[in-house]
Amino acid sequence: MTETATSARPPAGGDDEVLVDVRGVKVHFPIKRGVIFDKVIGYVYAVDGVDLQIRRGETYGLVGESGCGKSTLGKAILNLEPPTAGSVLFDGTDIASLKGEELRRKRKDIQMVFQDPMSSLDPRQSVESLLVEGMRAHGLDADGPSTARRLRELLAAVGLPAAALRKYPHEFSGGQRQRIGIARALSVEPKLIVADEPVSALDVSVQAQVINLLEELQDEFHLTYLVVAHDLAVVRHISDRIGVMYLGGLVEEATADDLYALPLHPYTRALLSAVPVPDPTVEDTREQILLTGDLPSPSNPPAGCRFHTRCPWRQPTRCDDERPALRTVGIAGVPAGHRVACHWAEQIESGELKPHAVTPEMIEQVDTSSDHEDFIGPASVTEAL
Ligand SMILES: Nc1ncnc2c1ncn2[C@@H]1O[C@H](COP(=O)(O)OP(=O)(O)OP(=O)(O)O)[C@@H](O)[C@H]1O
Ligand code: SF4
Ligand SMILES: [Mg+2]
Repeated sequence: MTETATSARPPAGGDDEVLVDVRGVKVHFPIKRGVIFDKVIGYVYAVDGVDLQIRRGETYGLVGESGCGKSTLGKAILNLEPPTAGSVLFDGTDIASLKGEELRRKRKDIQMVFQDPMSSLDPRQSVESLLVEGMRAHGLDADGPSTARRLRELLAAVGLPAAALRKYPHEFSGGQRQRIGIARALSVEPKLIVADEPVSALDVSVQAQVINLLEELQDEFHLTYLVVAHDLAVVRHISDRIGVMYLGGLVEEATADDLYALPLHPYTRALLSAVPVPDPTVEDTREQILLTGDLPSPSNPPAGCRFHTRCPWRQPTRCDDERPALRTVGIAGVPAGHRVACHWAEQIESGELKPHAVTPEMIEQVDTSSDHEDFIGPASVTEAL
């Protein structure tokens, strides 16, 4: 149902720098109705044509409002949610093409750190058992003494004492539990860690400690990270490059510094303008873009530019009809790696196009109530952030 945006992207294969190559990935969830016959009455276009590359050793941050498809994209990279279309090359191999032992071996290289360590750690297992489990599954617990040494090393790496091995998840604080979750991910010596909201369930006071730990471990173990987060401050701090998602698509991608210094997509501008700036003079004078209109449902995304129903720069009729590709822009001083999916990025940046009032549009929703009730996003950017 949706037209696909094509993007300027490097040719297939051969780039040793690239660890993860996401090519035109779509993840569409069928919406089914009926007791006896599962009739498909529509789809949730959770991820709808994403191209991105994650380089070895970098941290790629993924931001966007709740429901825009961040976690689904993370799962597609892990092949936990096999793509409806497109492919994910990990270290040059399409994981979806692997089976049996080969798949198991490749899976070891990609580990996940979850938002809520309490629900991702089995409360009945001791820390030792939690850590050994993954190592055993991948044949990494060869002999007793070396396993015991490895366990102590893992705990030391995440800043926990060896005595923690005999304890159970409930005996730890939230931050310590997240350290155990990280140790578990590290136990199988992965190349990539997908961290989905790794600190958003933690007290603000321990968030920075866990982020610093992730950064230290990255250097020590030569890790590559995909960090999914809705907190722009967290993403900015930890990321080398950032991808901004809106309704299943990537609307902007740049280095963290470039994105915050010069956001080019109207949606990114709105997201960043909602983040308070500590300096009151800057806060009073900077551009504030308040988005009106609800986030459309991913089961019925707007045609053309997905953002056109809320965009203060929307132009007739191209914005409504043609989905913009993620492309490099011809703006002096903007590096080629800064990509944006907006037809009018140059004219908006130069001031040739001015923002206008947005009349909220009623968007017809597909009634999905009998199956998955979580389709509709928050009412505003501030609610999501
Ligand atoms: N298994 C599923 N079946 C049907 N729809 C799903 C499924 N998983 C996710 N969705 C829907 O896909 C869309 C994207 O969900 P996703 O969890 O990827 O968003 P997100 O960006 O991670 O949001 P959040 O910030 O709230 O975690 C949402 O509308 C969600 O309801
Ligand atoms: S393409 Fe049009 S609607 Fe989309 S972000 Fe750009 S100006 Fe706004
Ligand atoms: Mg999520």
